[in-house]
Amino acid sequence: MGIPDSARRAEVNRVVAESRGDDDSGADDRDVHAYVCDTRSINVTQYRSLASLLSPDERMRADALWRADDRRDYAAAHALLRRALALITRQAPERLAFEKDDSGKPFLTKSRHVPAPPHFSLSHSHDLVGCVISRTCVVGIDVEITSHAIDAQRLATRYFTVDEAAALGRCAADERLPRFCELWTLKEALLKAAGIGPDTAIDSVSFRVDEQQVSLTRTPPGMATDWAFVLRRVGRTHVLAVAAGPRASCLRVTHIMPEDVLEGSLIPMSAASSRARDR
Ligand SMILES: CC(C)(COP(=O)(O)OP(=O)(O)OC[C@H]1O[C@@H](n2cnc3c(N)ncnc32)[C@H](O)[C@@H]1OP(=O)(O)O)[C@@H](O)C(=O)NCCC(=O)NCCS
Repeated sequence: MGIPDSARRAEVNRVVAESRGDDDSGADDRDVHAYVCDTRSINVTQYRSLASLLSPDERMRADALWRADDRRDYAAAHALLRRALALITRQAPERLAFEKDDSGKPFLTKSRHVPAPPHFSLSHSHDLVGCVISRTCVVGIDVEITSHAIDAQRLATRYFTVDEAAALGRCAADERLPRFCELWTLKEALLKAAGIGPDTAIDSVSFRVDEQQVSLTRTPPGMATDWAFVLRRVGRTHVLAVAAGPRASCLRVTHIMPEDVLEGSLIPMSAASSRARDR
């Protein structure tokens, strides 16, 4: 990934607050917090420490990946998720247990220690990993690399709505790929949050993006329309989208370093909330 180290450092622990209105009255339970981490600097020792936070099953999945970078990203993503969930459940990250629903969507096992499991979502893509958590709102996150050569217009014509493909066709040539990835990540984030069934069509949801202002222009019958989104370009090579369900009050994205994951020094949701409110 091509984020210069100086820029990456400058982004560390920067809290981006996206308020969803002026109702800021003690809304911690409806806050949504995403963490994003550049994994390129992770060395072998750090990889082993990250992997030690995972379950035997997760370690097996990591080991089965062919590319070392994919193993690293998988371990970093799941360690990050465990750290983030540990913060709000007050459990040890290694002790959290997960299950999957029929679509493959993971959820935290309800137990005496975790009586109200938080909602979460996870994504990893070529040196960038992210997760999003919320106590009460369904959430989805997607990160995608924008520097791979693909024929964005052809894919948009095939998979996107007519309006989305037309909007892409009007973009400057060098903007077409990142714009395509913006729409793609928004769709993935929303579908991951709302639930992906076997019949979910990619064009069942559609978006319009103006200057990174996101409008949801189509939803399938029965899906809520009142969602909150964050859309960000991360360096020159990635796009990040977060979707949060109708009850969300605030969406925040924190860029963290692998060391924060290793040391468990993520900013807790409540602290991030008050910092953002103080700005
Ligand atoms: C399952 C799917 C969401 C994974 O997305 P991806 O971009 O390939 O991979 P990401 O790294 O972003 O996300 C992977 C994580 O999503 C989560 N996930 C898997 N299935 C999921 C589901 N049904 N719902 C929500 N989250 C899911 C898991 O945590 C997974 O992590 P893991 O594999 O390390 O355990 C995607 O492959 C899919 O099926 N999408 C269907 C909708 C579609 O066609 N989208 C195209 C949009 S234009």
